[in-house]
Amino acid sequence: MPAQLDAAINIEDLRKLAKRRLPKIAYDFIEGGLEDEDGLARNEDAFRRYRLVPRYGVDVTTIDQTTTLFGRTYSGPVGIAPTGLAGLFRRGGDLMLAEAAKAANVPFIMSGTSTGLIEDLARLAPEHGWYQLYIAKDRKISEDMVRRARDAGLSTLVITVDVPTNSKRERNLRNGFGRPLKLGVRMKLEACRHPGWLAEYLRLGPPMFSNWQRYAPNGTTADAVADFVTAQMPTPVTWQDIETFRRAWPGTLVIKGIMHPADATRALAMGVDGIMVSNHGGRQLDRAPAPIEVLPTIHAAVGDKMTVMYDSGIRRGSDAVTALCLGAKYVFVGRPTLYGVTAGGCAGATKALAIFKDEIERVMMHLGAPNIKSLGPHLLMWKDEEDLRRNMRP
Ligand SMILES: Cc1cc2nc3c(=O)[nH]c(=O)nc-3n(C[C@H](O)[C@H](O)[C@H](O)COP(=O)(O)O)c2cc1C
Repeated sequence: MPAQLDAAINIEDLRKLAKRRLPKIAYDFIEGGLEDEDGLARNEDAFRRYRLVPRYGVDVTTIDQTTTLFGRTYSGPVGIAPTGLAGLFRRGGDLMLAEAAKAANVPFIMSGTSTGLIEDLARLAPEHGWYQLYIAKDRKISEDMVRRARDAGLSTLVITVDVPTNSKRERNLRNGFGRPLKLGVRMKLEACRHPGWLAEYLRLGPPMFSNWQRYAPNGTTADAVADFVTAQMPTPVTWQDIETFRRAWPGTLVIKGIMHPADATRALAMGVDGIMVSNHGGRQLDRAPAPIEVLPTIHAAVGDKMTVMYDSGIRRGSDAVTALCLGAKYVFVGRPTLYGVTAGGCAGATKALAIFKDEIERVMMHLGAPNIKSLGPHLLMWKDEEDLRRNMRP
């Protein structure tokens, strides 16, 4: 492991390493929220309102983090959320993330705008790879992607519903990040300060949205495929779409981006197996609540009937434990593992997962909680919970 990676002791260290490797235009794409980035800040701040109340006198010599999800037992409660364009930050990044997840025995969700192939994911990590679908304007493309995921043998399909339109990501607008991805003079000069990334980019060119290539007319270049993807999405996803894809997908179906208990109830009624309570890491609606604020009410509405999972804003093991205490069956991280893979490839992503595992273990020892099942709201203290319950009634 490179010395710098070895020296990283927390997710913030990995973020700094990723920032060092990337030109501003690429780093800002990972880091950014939208508009005033209030939601981004809220996601992390909201965790700090909760206190974890220690309980001693329990034998916590051995902490068991294993978690069973949709009938499969994973080694820990933190998986890798789908993050598009990973190959822009580290070539081959998507499959490196998959490899790290497999090694850690946790799930990895391949993004609907990944730069790796569904079929390669299924070969590399058949037990750990899930596929996230961004529904295309041409629904036939999405149906075919679902068929491919099914034929490849993947167990779980995740449909993201929180991108009805492109959000106003002002960092990207100012940096000129868009279609086509062309580095202007200012960005080129800045990129020279990140020679490792620049050399890779100049040698290999822009990464390809590989899963979309076969649908794009003249899809021989990464730019042409990216233009095609930009024309096909985003598009609003309706409940009728969910019904259609529920019929088409025999495996586990998860809806990502649920933020209201009534939507959770609706998903449940359609036979959806699980939901991810998420605001897309603060990248879609700047005034949306932090998902951790709505998690308890959503869990109260559907938690005993379907699998409620969580992402957004988790940077510490204590954040993950807080979400688990509030009813999440499993949590996912987006940026933390992207920082890791950017900083050090598969070893970097592995490091991010190991940091969470270590921090979670220490927190659970203080809570007198020897296993994940023993976590619950009885270990938390928080303010304003009554306000939240009142405001978010289904
Ligand atoms: C660079 C980046 C790309 C993302 N791409 C996708 C995507 O393709 N599909 C999706 O459903 N969510 C995507 N997300 C959202 C993540 O899946 C996840 O909801 C979010 O990152 C969680 O917040 P966190 O970064 O604070 O952990 C992306 C997030 C980031 C930071």
